[in-house]
Order: sequence, then C-alpha cells, then structure tokens
Amino acid sequence: MLHNRSLLCFSSVVNFLLLVALLVGGVAQAGCFSFNYSSFTEENKTNLILKNSYIVFGAIQVTPDVADLIRNQSGRALYKRPFRLRSKSKGMASFNSTFVLNMMNTTNPGGDGMAFILTGHTDLPSNSQGQWLGIVNEATVSSAKIETVAVTFLTGGSNTANLNGSQVGLNLNGYSKKQESLYVDLSSGNDVKVRVRYDGEVLSVFVGEDTSSPALSDSLDFSIYLPHKVYVGFSASTGNYSQLNCVKSWEFSALDLDDHQMPQWIWIIVAAVIALFIGFAFSLYWKWKYYVRKGGDPGFELQIQGLSTAPRKFRLKKLESATENFNSDNLLGRGGFGTVYKGVLVNREVAVKRFSRNSHEGKQDFIAEITTISNLHHRNLVKLLGWCHEREELLLVYEFMPNKSLDKFIFCNQNHGAETNPVTLNWERRYAVIYGVAQALDYLHNGCEKRVLHRDIKASNVMLDSEFNARLGDFGLARTINPSDQTHHSTKAIAGTPGYMAPESFLIGRATVQTDVYAFGVLVLEVVCGRKPGRQSTQNNYNNSIVDWVWENYRGESILDVVDLQLNGIFSKEQAECVLVLALACCHPNPYQRPSMRTVLRVLAGEVAPPVIPIDRPAFVWPPAMPPSLNEDLQDYTFSGDRNTPSSELIGR
Ligand SMILES: *[C@@H]1O[C@H](CO)[C@@H](O)[C@H](O)[C@H]1NC(C)=O
Ligand SMILES: *[C@@H]1O[C@H](CO)[C@@H](O)[C@H](O)[C@H]1NC(C)=O
Ligand SMILES: *[C@@H]1O[C@H](CO)[C@@H](O)[C@H](O)[C@H]1NC(C)=O
Ligand SMILES: *[C@@H]1O[C@H](CO)[C@@H](O)[C@H](O)[C@H]1NC(C)=O
Ligand SMILES: *[C@@H]1O[C@H](CO)[C@@H](O)[C@H](O)[C@H]1NC(C)=O
Ligand SMILES: *[C@@H]1O[C@H](CO)[C@@H](O)[C@H](O)[C@H]1NC(C)=O
Ligand SMILES: *[C@@H]1O[C@H](CO)[C@@H](O)[C@H](O)[C@H]1NC(C)=O
Repeated sequence: MLHNRSLLCFSSVVNFLLLVALLVGGVAQAGCFSFNYSSFTEENKTNLILKNSYIVFGAIQVTPDVADLIRNQSGRALYKRPFRLRSKSKGMASFNSTFVLNMMNTTNPGGDGMAFILTGHTDLPSNSQGQWLGIVNEATVSSAKIETVAVTFLTGGSNTANLNGSQVGLNLNGYSKKQESLYVDLSSGNDVKVRVRYDGEVLSVFVGEDTSSPALSDSLDFSIYLPHKVYVGFSASTGNYSQLNCVKSWEFSALDLDDHQMPQWIWIIVAAVIALFIGFAFSLYWKWKYYVRKGGDPGFELQIQGLSTAPRKFRLKKLESATENFNSDNLLGRGGFGTVYKGVLVNREVAVKRFSRNSHEGKQDFIAEITTISNLHHRNLVKLLGWCHEREELLLVYEFMPNKSLDKFIFCNQNHGAETNPVTLNWERRYAVIYGVAQALDYLHNGCEKRVLHRDIKASNVMLDSEFNARLGDFGLARTINPSDQTHHSTKAIAGTPGYMAPESFLIGRATVQTDVYAFGVLVLEVVCGRKPGRQSTQNNYNNSIVDWVWENYRGESILDVVDLQLNGIFSKEQAECVLVLALACCHPNPYQRPSMRTVLRVLAGEVAPPVIPIDRPAFVWPPAMPPSLNEDLQDYTFSGDRNTPSSELIGR
C-alpha cells in the first residue's frame, strides 16, 4: 500500500521533472542565433551596442551625422548578444548575414568607409578614425589583442590617392589580408546590398544584386583571430573628409554549433539525475512523514483501526504535556518493556506506558498489547484508553489505578523500606481481590471471543482501583523499580516470572491455560500468606517455593498457620482453608489435575467444595498422568494449545 503509493508519487515526480528538462532542452536547442532588422527603430537600441553611433531615420548612422562636420569620427554598432562562433569539439559555426549599406560623401572626396566586423570586444578603440575604420588604432594595429576580423568597404577618403574606386577587403586584426576592387561606387548614396556567407571554411562576400560570383572570397580560420564567442556588427570612420555611413537593414543567422547538442545531452542527464534525486528525496520525506510524523506505518494504523473496538489515538504532544514531558517525578514503574508514567488528561488521571525500544520486537509487543486488550472488556481488567505512535515513540494509555498494585499491600511487612504501606488488606478485601482476579482470568480463558492467556499473573500485575477492586493488568504499572525484574521480558521462549511458573513450563516452553491457573494458585497463596512466592526459577528447586511450604503445613494439618500474621487472626477460618486448598489444587504438579478457572470461581462462590488434593505434594512427573476420569472440566484439562489452533488463541502479556 505504502510502497505502491510512494512509488507512484515518486515516478510521477520524476516524469514531471524529466518533461521539464526536455522542454528546457528543446527550447535551448531551437534557439539558433538569428535576427532580422528590416529597419532600425529607437526600440531596437535595447538589443544593440552603439558606440558613437545613432539610430536616425530608420538606419544606424555608424559615424554620427552631426551637421556636415562628420570628420575624424569613428563608431561601432554591435548586436548586444554574442554568439558562439567556434567550439572545441565541432569547430566553426557557419553564418549568413545580409545588410544594406548606404554611404554618401558629404565632401569630395568622401570619408574612409565601413566594415562588417566580428570582434571579441565591444569597445570602440580610441583614435580609430580615418584609415583605421573604427577597428584598430595606430598603436594596436596587427595586434592579436584586437580580436577583430573585418570585411571592409573602403570608399577612398584619406587614402583616395591610393585607391582606385571602392574596394572590398578582408582585414584581420587591423592587417589587410586581401582587397578587391568593386565596380559599384559605394559612397554614391545608393543602397548597396551586401551578403556575407561563411560556411565554416570559406568566407564569401557578394556586393550588389550579383549572387553568382563573390566580390571577395577567401578561406578563413576564425579560430586564429577570434575568441569562442564574438559580437557581430559594423564599424565606420571618417577622417579629413566626411561621409554618412549608414546601415539600413540587417539580417543575421548562424547555425548553432553541433557542439550544443553535447551539452544538451549532458543537461538532460543532469536534469534526470536531479529529478531522480529529488524524487527519491521526496519519497523518503513522504515516507518519513507518514511513518514518523503521522504515527507509524499505515499497516500499523490500519491494523489498529481494523479492531472492532479501536482504541483512541492520542497525539504525542498531548501525552507529553499530560506527563510533563515524561518527567521522572511522574514515574510509576519500570520494566523490560519500558516505563510507565502518571499523566493528567483533562482532569482525568491516566497511566502512560512508554515502550523503551522501537525495534521490530517492540512494535510487535505494542500491537499485540493493543489488539489483545482492546477486545477485552471486564470490570476486573485495567482498561486501555488509547495509543500513540509518533516520532519513534510507542505509547499506550491506560486508566490510572490510584491504589497501585497488590504487591504493595500484601508484602508491606517485608518491603524494602522505601514504600511501606500503612494499609493492610483485611481478610474480606483479600478474598474480594482473589475473587476479582479469578473472574478476570475466567473471562480471559472462557468468557471472551478468543481465549487469552495472560502468561504473567503475579501480585505486581494486579492493580487496585480506588475501592480496592482487583484489576488485572498486563503491564508492570506498579512493578517495583528493580532491574532484575526485567529479565523475564527478554526471554520470549519462556515468558513469565520465576516463582509463578508451573514446573512444566520449562519443558513445554509455552503458556497454557494450566500454567495461568498455576500462577493464579501462587498468587492466592501470596495473598493469603502475605509472603513472596520464593525462588523457583527451575524445576529442580521448586520445592523451596511457597507452594511447597503451604503443602507441608497442609500435610502437618496446620494449614491455617500459613495465614498472614498481619491479619491478627481476624479471618474466616473456613474460607481461608477452602482458599488455601483450592490454591494448592491450582498448583498441582500435574497440569491435568488443576481445576479450570470456571471451577475455581464456583469454589470461591461457595457453590462447590474445593478439589480433593493429596496429603503429600505429588512429585513432578513428565509426561503427566492423564486424569482418572472424564469430568466437566475435561475441556479445560486438555492443553489449550492442542485443542485450539494457535491462530485462534491470543497470547496476552
Ligand atoms: C527579414 O525581413 C525582411 C523584411 O521583413 C524579409 O523580407 C526577409 O525575408 C527577412 N529575412 C529572414 C531571414 O527572415
Ligand atoms: C526593432 O524594433 C521594432 C519595433 O520598433 C520591432 O518590431 C522589431 O522586432 C525590432 N527588431 C529586432 C530585430 O529586434
Ligand atoms: C547561408 O546561405 C546558404 C545559401 O543560401 C545556405 O545554404 C546556408 O544554409 C545558409 N547558412 C546559414 C547559417 O543560414
Ligand atoms: C561626392 O563625390 C562625387 C564624386 O565621386 C562628387 O562629384 C560630389 O560633388 C561629391 N559630393 C559632395 C557633397 O562633395
Ligand atoms: C584604376 O582603374 C582604372 C580602370 O580599371 C585603371 O586604368 C587605373 O590604372 C587604376 N588606377 C590605380 C591607381 O590602380
Ligand atoms: C588632414 O588635414 C590637415 C589640415 O587640415 C592636414 O594637416 C593633414 O595632413 C590631413 N591629413 C590627411 C591624412 O590627409
Ligand atoms: C583630424 O585628425 C588629424 C590627426 O589626428 C588632424 O591632423 C586633422 O586636423 C583633423 N581634422 C579635422 C577636420 O579635425
């Protein structure tokens, strides 16, 4: 789902950017260098460089027309944008230019002439009047720094004596390479059309209407004289004698160098790479936003929202402010899963369970806990109010239990001193707690849609609400802060808490209905005796446990001696004996001999007598003997895992 959407998004972004890149590339490719002035207007000044030149009467006066004293003047008019004349890879560009010149002598003889120039420099050289045609001056003539190639149109002027009429010439950096006489008089004041063609090797100049044979033709390698990018335009000069030097129209077209195609391919590749990168970054951002900001992967959210009774989703901000940014002052408990904080949400107290790791395992625990709990509704279970998954935080919100957990009350005489509790539970309350836990467990085993195994029944997981009603929780809300307490959380294979684990747990390596019943039995013994279950971490030393101790007293017919001394003898002896025998039955080493929670409830309600148990604690034998007779509890004597397919069974923590 996420994958497809992000992929789609990603590819559309890439496509879009590629399109943009191609369009840009295409526009650049189509942009061959050309322009066409049929005449010149004031507006055209914006794309021309005019040095001592003016636009007058629809023409460029390359040397200024100031009264009739156009003497000792030079000027330049260039197209503003340079064009790429040559490239390293593809050599010379070719170009065509057609223009109409109009030169008219205002003296006899006239001025010096004009030139069509390609130049690396836009500046008009100083003192470039007279014979220098605005191209060079005396100091720079024939210098490579000039970077100017000119097609000259000489009209005599100062050099009239040396000239025979009008001439067309080729001038390289001020050096006159070639000159050809013309039959037309250039300075007659008539329009003269000139075509200049360069095919990459040969420069040809056609003057007048004759386009069959060029007036001047010469092979020319511009690369010797010119930089890669050149300006094109005109220059002109007058000396002692004067004339008007006008350009009346001008068209220019240069084929783009093939060279341009190369960079365009590079551009496209670069654009594509950028597009890919942006697309990738975008998809990453999108994913990040979805995963982290919005709270978990969508599968996560869908999984939770797919629940019949989906718990509320909380914003992290809200929970942060509720717990004062997970202030350690609000710490309620800590375990292998993480920490539990007290929080206040709009005057309602809540317990916020914060998962410490956001590993895959942590997430699975999280989902398992939500899916398990949100389907459970029983007054003896702690209620899940909501959840939150944002910025790597996994949080569950539970109702707050003001009286914390059962262990705080029943072990108060053996407490580590820090949290001695003044209230001791009296017999009625203890009995009610046992009954409440039994109801909760019966609901988990037999009452809800899918059987749920708690797997971690113990005093610290039994919460007490404001009226001391037992509420079975599956989180260490009030678990004492004790690092050694965390160990069982890391062992997935055998989950549970030492002391509460049935001896067969170590052999079958998984929880069953009977292992829950066993843990319940241990819990009952604890509540009645006010004693911790003792160490029973392996099957070999389970004999040191509270079960063993109580059974010893049962054998010695002094079972009531085990009842918590803190009760000061104020308890129903009948009830106590009944409950103790029931608890021992729950802790029978043979899982088949343990009663079901249904039976336990009936015994506690006084409907039936407790199961008969042997005087001596039976030895633990594996595999266990099958029950002697089929009775109403048979369905619960069989291992739930064998009877139900594993998928129909939820494992709670
Ligand atoms: C330049 O403009 C003139 C007049 O508008 C036109 O006759 C001529 O064909 C144009 N040249 C080009 C190359 O478009
Ligand atoms: C010169 O200016 C005129 C408007 O005054 C405009 O129509 C024409 O396109 C311009 N020529 C060039 C080559 O820019
Ligand atoms: C220049 O003109 C010639 C002849 O009309 C043509 O073959 C050539 O393609 C033109 N070159 C450019 C760059 O326009
Ligand atoms: C321009 O030159 C011609 C000769 O080529 C001459 O007859 C004419 O008088 C000159 N014009 C002026 C204004 O001097
Ligand atoms: C100028 O041209 C004419 C005719 O073409 C020729 O007779 C004369 O000698 C030439 N003068 C010079 C200086 O070249
Ligand atoms: C230009 O005219 C001046 C006198 O006005 C003269 O001294 C000078 O030699 C002339 N120059 C040329 C190149 O004819
Ligand atoms: C033009 O310049 C030259 C040398 O720079 C000078 O001799 C001559 O008198 C000038 N002519 C005019 C008309 O100013």
